Amino acid sequence: MKGIILAGGLATRLRPLTWVTNKHLLPIYNKPMISYPIESMVKAGIKEILVSTSPDHAGDFANLLKDGSDFGVHLYYSIQNNPKGGIANAIGLAEEFTQKEKVLVILGDNIFNHNLKPTIKKFEKQEKGAIVYGVRMPNTAKQYGVIELNKKNRVFSIEEKPEHPKSDIAQVGIYMYDNRVFDFIRNLSPSNRGELEVTDLNNLYLKEGTLKCYLLDWWVDAGTSFDELLRANNLVADKIKNHEL
Ligand code: G1P
Repeated sequence: MKGIILAGGLATRLRPLTWVTNKHLLPIYNKPMISYPIESMVKAGIKEILVSTSPDHAGDFANLLKDGSDFGVHLYYSIQNNPKGGIANAIGLAEEFTQKEKVLVILGDNIFNHNLKPTIKKFEKQEKGAIVYGVRMPNTAKQYGVIELNKKNRVFSIEEKPEHPKSDIAQVGIYMYDNRVFDFIRNLSPSNRGELEVTDLNNLYLKEGTLKCYLLDWWVDAGTSFDELLRANNLVADKIKNHEL
């Protein structure tokens, strides 16, 4: 299984912090934000990771992370020229890198301590399919993709930022796909906001009946706003001091 960390985008919501740097290089307590998803991949047993970033700050990622040996992994880099292409577009750029293996995708501003390893082990044995993760966020789920589960805990629907959310489960930025994902991405069309949406991609697996969802206890999307960035810093500081991260 290969890893893909998405660290592109313009992060306009975090300006002026992001005028001269990429948001994934901003500090979260004692480390740059990008360190957390890399460490999650390491914990999951992933050995080769592609960091996808935007052209203007790509050199800073290389200066910081180098070849990945500090983390015990091999790092590769790719450039998403169109920062507004969307998550599915960025995943699509990794086709050659994956060499037909399955992929674990983590958004570069997502912080969590859940160990993905046991699920990866099972997923590796599966012939096809995809996995998404959710977290209960009463009141704020509508800012995200919203996952509706049926009584058997199977995914019933996923809607991107719905006005009237059907549940309080937010789709987080952790996804596992079989290698057909690249064919699926080629068939996607841009959404109203002009992006190739990860939710549309996940819905293709849902339609096929091969999508599974697991819930996390906690998760922070550190890069969405100044308040989330602050919350991430405080939460991560507590978790690190309590040896929970
Ligand atoms: C993206 C996805 C959304 C998901 C979120 C998690 O949203 O489209 O489904 O819930 O990441 O961080 P965006 O950050 O592009 O608004």
